[in-house]
Amino acid sequence: MITIDEFRLIRDYVEKHCGIHLSDDKTYLVETRLTTMMFEQGCNTFGDLYNRAVLDKTHTLRDKIIEAITTNETFWFRDIHPFSILTELVLKQYADEIAAGKRNKIRFWCCACSTGQEPYSIAMTFLEFIRHYPRLKPENIEILATDISSTVLFLGKLGRYDNLAITRGLGEEYRDRYFVQNNKIWTISDEVKKMVRFQKLNLQESFNHLGKQDIIFCRNILIYFSLEFKQDILKRIAALLRPGGYLFLGASESIIMYTQEYEMQRHAMGLYYQVK
Ligand SMILES: C[S@@+](CC[C@H](N)C(=O)[O-])C[C@H]1O[C@@H](n2cnc3c(N)ncnc32)[C@H](O)[C@@H]1O
Repeated sequence: MITIDEFRLIRDYVEKHCGIHLSDDKTYLVETRLTTMMFEQGCNTFGDLYNRAVLDKTHTLRDKIIEAITTNETFWFRDIHPFSILTELVLKQYADEIAAGKRNKIRFWCCACSTGQEPYSIAMTFLEFIRHYPRLKPENIEILATDISSTVLFLGKLGRYDNLAITRGLGEEYRDRYFVQNNKIWTISDEVKKMVRFQKLNLQESFNHLGKQDIIFCRNILIYFSLEFKQDILKRIAALLRPGGYLFLGASESIIMYTQEYEMQRHAMGLYYQVK
């Protein structure tokens, strides 16, 4: 069983390196997620595992601990509203600007992309949109998908999903249009795959080098961070968005209480934020 001192060491270590804040009632979570690793590493206690991670100059063990603690839950078209807002409002606005020669690209950043369902859902939304708006081409959109975890990025790049993952949020029509089936595995089509670029990025680090973005999906990740870290990320995201740029959060997330940089907007049943 993990001791309270071991829990606190690991909790502080995790927060220092990825921002995830674990409250005192998460001892069980740390214990269950790290037990196999503890034995695989030949350690007898969680304290030994912690010491080994701290001494590991390659950071391999540190990354493994972070991967074990993070939650990668995701599915296609999660919460649906962000994607209908894209179609009904955001893409329409940018498509008009492209048609008027005011811009030629729409830049998306999906900043905690997990295994790819979210950025690929954005790509499919765009492909559906241009079926009715043929003046736009897939080249008019750039989707950057980032995550702290090398494992989820690898899986996202592969774009292969089993029978269970494929059904979660995805209708048969899109499945048949945008995936190729091989036995029990569904692979995202090249048309969709080539629209998304995956890259490793820890949100604790500077992301200025990504350049200005039009739309940022930062969904179902802020809930894991401390108030200070949330405020810090939201400030930096606001600085990265072009004036009037869009921020989408998870359905259960709200930021209005701790940031002044955004205007909350409503569309049909969904919410989105625009940088002031
Ligand atoms: C619950 S998933 C959300 C996936 C997707 N955005 C969605 O809403 O379906 C959270 C993701 O955030 C990633 N993550 C956790 N800490 C991070 C950090 N400091 N920087 C970047 N990504 C992080 C995890 O690896 C995980 O894949």
